[in-house]
Amino acid sequence: MNANAFFRLDGQVAVVTGGGQGIGEAICRRLAAAGAKVGVFDLSRENAQRVAAEIGGIDLVGDLTKEADLERIFGDITSLAGPVDILVNNAGVASRKGRDLPIWELVRDDWEYVLNINVVGLALCCKMALPGMIAKKYGRIVNIASIAGKEGNPKMAPYSASKAAVICLTKSLAKELVGKGDICVNSVSPAVIQTPILEQLNQEQINMMLSKIPLGRTGKPEEVAALVHFLASPECSFTTGFCFDISGGRATY
Ligand SMILES: NC(=O)c1ccc[n+]([C@@H]2O[C@H](COP(=O)([O-])OP(=O)(O)OC[C@H]3O[C@@H](n4cnc5c(N)ncnc54)[C@H](O)[C@@H]3O)[C@@H](O)[C@H]2O)c1
Repeated sequence: MNANAFFRLDGQVAVVTGGGQGIGEAICRRLAAAGAKVGVFDLSRENAQRVAAEIGGIDLVGDLTKEADLERIFGDITSLAGPVDILVNNAGVASRKGRDLPIWELVRDDWEYVLNINVVGLALCCKMALPGMIAKKYGRIVNIASIAGKEGNPKMAPYSASKAAVICLTKSLAKELVGKGDICVNSVSPAVIQTPILEQLNQEQINMMLSKIPLGRTGKPEEVAALVHFLASPECSFTTGFCFDISGGRATY
């Protein structure tokens, strides 16, 4: 499909967290191709600048768990491009590197690291973008969850719990926004997608996840971006609080 032809986003401002690589990078490229001005938000300056330069976007460098960084970043995008119409909460981590372990071997830091980025940071990004959306009575938020948040992957309890939280936080927020205008909040649950996040996991863990996908392959970042593009567009106007599957047939609900 030609992203230039459908679901146009001309004149809209988007922020994509974790936009510097993997799924986030594909989402940035897709939204920019549809006409949006895209803020590429990432911890990695090099990657944020590279992607922003390639798509005519704005690099936003910082850590989404730090409120001072969020104040600066959402201030910068608003003054440079205007209020945020689209927020894609994509940044996330699977575990502290190599710490895909059963619960009885995890320590507090393993939990806090994952939940702080995947849940608390995501909620804080929503908090930053929402006053502008409510003032305009328009907005789209897309949260990247995971099939792990529906099934609970073994040796990935912090990650699975964090993604279940993302699915449910999305439902709570969608209902809180009723009556505040055309503001829709949805989540997306991918199965294994070929990106650098897989470097945080052991090969045995990746093989286990792959074996559960009926289509028998990993997904591509561009396939996730296509779904996110629709959810970020004005055409997605009668669905909110929902979790969309993109799992090669793995999801059963
Ligand atoms: N790849 C998969 O198999 C898969 C499957 C299901 C869900 N997901 C989810 O999709 C999202 C993207 O995953 P990916 O595979 O592209 O990951 P990735 O590791 O390739 O990219 C994640 C990006 O987020 C950035 N990031 C991490 N912490 C940050 C922070 N505190 N502040 C700002 N930026 C930060 C990283 O710098 C990186 O550029 C994640 O939420 C992930 O949980 C991925």
